Amino acid sequence: PKVNPFVNEPVKSYLPGSPERIELQRELERMKSENIEIPVIIGGKEIKTGNTAACVMPHDHKHVLGHYHKAGRREAVLAIEAALEAKKKWERLPWSSRVAIFLKAAELAAGPWRAKLNAATMLNQSKTFKQAEIDAACELVDFMRFNAHCLSNLYADQPISGLSAWNKTDYRPLEGFVFAVAPFNFTAIGSNLAAAPAICGNTVLLKPASTAVYSAYVVYKLYEAAGLPAGVINFLPGDASEISEVILGHESMSGVHFTGSTKVFQTIWKTVGSQLDSYRTFPRLVGETGGKNFVVVHSSADPKTVAHGLAEGAFEYQGQKCSAASRTYVPKSLWPQVQDALMAEIDKIKIGNVEVFDTFMGAVIDEKSFNNIKGYIQAAKNAEDAKIIAGGGCSGDKGYFVEPTVILTENPHFVTMQEEIFGPVLTVYLYEDEAFEETLKLCDTTSKYGLTGSIFARDPYAIQLANEALTHSAGNFYINVRPTGAVVGQQPFGGARLSGTNDKAGSMLNLLRWLSPRSIKENL
Ligand code: SER
Repeated sequence: PKVNPFVNEPVKSYLPGSPERIELQRELERMKSENIEIPVIIGGKEIKTGNTAACVMPHDHKHVLGHYHKAGRREAVLAIEAALEAKKKWERLPWSSRVAIFLKAAELAAGPWRAKLNAATMLNQSKTFKQAEIDAACELVDFMRFNAHCLSNLYADQPISGLSAWNKTDYRPLEGFVFAVAPFNFTAIGSNLAAAPAICGNTVLLKPASTAVYSAYVVYKLYEAAGLPAGVINFLPGDASEISEVILGHESMSGVHFTGSTKVFQTIWKTVGSQLDSYRTFPRLVGETGGKNFVVVHSSADPKTVAHGLAEGAFEYQGQKCSAASRTYVPKSLWPQVQDALMAEIDKIKIGNVEVFDTFMGAVIDEKSFNNIKGYIQAAKNAEDAKIIAGGGCSGDKGYFVEPTVILTENPHFVTMQEEIFGPVLTVYLYEDEAFEETLKLCDTTSKYGLTGSIFARDPYAIQLANEALTHSAGNFYINVRPTGAVVGQQPFGGARLSGTNDKAGSMLNLLRWLSPRSIKENL
């Protein structure tokens, strides 16, 4: 079989009275009163360990949505056994049978499961309906369909056969199991961390983020409803510290598919490196980690376009996208106009309950993150070389709310110009117009990350200079648009330097990491 050409899932508008809006509202109400109990799931069997934690709503953190059971060392051992057992049959299925299950999951997610996926993402991760829709509905569906399309092309692409031999490439999965470790900020990313290795014939142990277990569980149930056999993905919510030693220490651990902090990925890498002798293969380590994403503005840029890009890039989803705009370099001549337009954008931003349809920003994910962001805002308040020119307010009583905050600094190396904050905080540094090229250099050398960045300019030579000077500063580089919102199949996503291994989520490159080709020659 050959899979259809890939088309992105259209984003729904949720106009008042539309069927999708009515269904979403119904689902939100149901989930809020459901008091769900989420088990560990190993080999298709639900396990209630009794060691539980609450799933809460960040924008109303006393509202408990339910509880999840945490996996411990014992469950990690059982999950490895289940994954290895399930693999015996799963890897022997023709690729088209595996693909069919994920295409079915995409159909369900685009249709009857859409409201569930979006509602869980809105409530447990504090996404607005719009942010949930582009993530838990569209991006998730896109990953499934795009993977299927890539594999279809891959299997069709065979080596040349000569007169004397038939040649064939057999795209085997890795030997062993894959450990997928998911972030809280994108339901779609978490789903694909497990799905990409699985569609290639691997079996997976999935650890969802502890602050986003609800949506990860809905995704698990979606796969189950699509017919994914037991044990192909094993669902292990809980504390990484409890399970990772067992998992990373197993001889059949053949790969880690990770999205999260640079520090955690480095720890995983070191752990794997320190016990290389004990594995049966070289485990594949694929990680998307931190970022300190830039926006460089040239004096030829349109100030309103810049302001709009900054507001969306820095404040959508409370600045918690890995790709969020976080530091910007603006020429002094343009700043008055950019500032006016940016303040007008910020004035329009509504913060609060994400169930209200015109809310633009919900709460940040949890108390730890709230305190961390507050710390950076406080640093700007205390500093002599920085000041807050918008926002700066934080209120954690009902939900973990942080105002869209803009810091202006005279110091291009001020802490908020360098460190990842993962919150709605944008730092502005003003440069002399004629120092554009030095500023590009400064932008390139200020951060150890290399995830995303934008240049705003109408002068094509300025764009060209930025393109060259910032070659390694971003794995996703944007021109005259915010540095967020990569779309599957259009802008494969990922960065290098300390932002990860740049194996581009949603691309053939990523899928190839979960395959180990075998070349076969048959003499004629
Ligand atoms: N893929 C997301 C974006 O581009 C970030 O994780 O915004």
